[in-house]
Amino acid sequence: MAGALKPSIRVFDDGAALTRAAAKLFADSAHRAARDGFFRVAFSGGRTPKALFHLLAGKEYRDIPWKKIEFFWGDERYVPHTHPDSNYRAAKDILLSQVPVDLNRVHPIPTAAKNPKKDAGRYEGMLRKLLGETPRLDFAVMGLGPDGHTASLFPGGTALKETERWAVPAYAEKKLPRSRITLTVPVFNAAKKVVFLVVGEEKAEVVKDVIEDRGDFPAARIRPQDGELIFLLDKAAASRLGRGS
Ligand code: 6PG
Repeated sequence: MAGALKPSIRVFDDGAALTRAAAKLFADSAHRAARDGFFRVAFSGGRTPKALFHLLAGKEYRDIPWKKIEFFWGDERYVPHTHPDSNYRAAKDILLSQVPVDLNRVHPIPTAAKNPKKDAGRYEGMLRKLLGETPRLDFAVMGLGPDGHTASLFPGGTALKETERWAVPAYAEKKLPRSRITLTVPVFNAAKKVVFLVVGEEKAEVVKDVIEDRGDFPAARIRPQDGELIFLLDKAAASRLGRGS
């Protein structure tokens, strides 16, 4: 992450405390953005954000200006939106179906064309229409895989090298479903706030490598040019930080 703004690293006793902090960060950002426009958020997939979705669906966050939020996804598995592995389905079932969102502002990554390249192009067209010249998201929720991937930007993948397009097909070598669509590094790096949620001992080594920029991990490429980079870690995921190699 040479040259990046120093990331903010916040360590919590456990996943529950991390999730509470993530929900407060989301809510505060949403209230602030909604004062003069829309709050544009991109959700990640996988397991970790589900606890956040559950908490945000609860009564404590009823006052979030849900109708002022535009929902996007950082990546999607190339399966129907009804499929159990769909990132959109997870967010919809747990959160979006439980709070008063404006359905016209919920923008899942399309996966119906049976052609990831075509659907990625469609998503990019929609993003450009809604976001304009620069894909300036307000808040991007990111996960981290043990191999240092984030969204569906995998080590050695062509998607990781993309510098022009905003949404491209991707291929997960080690994680089913293999066919994906992902936003690209330039999109995440244009965001105002990028928030990694990382829980568990199995990620401690890669957390250290990514934060200390050791090796060439996809997540280490995510460094907002004019925005905040925040790592919310539980103690287990942060357990290698500050130690020698
Ligand atoms: C996906 C995600 C992916 C995820 C990481 C971490 O579609 O799977 O976007 O990048 O964030 O693999 O996943 P967990 O939170 O399940 O550990």
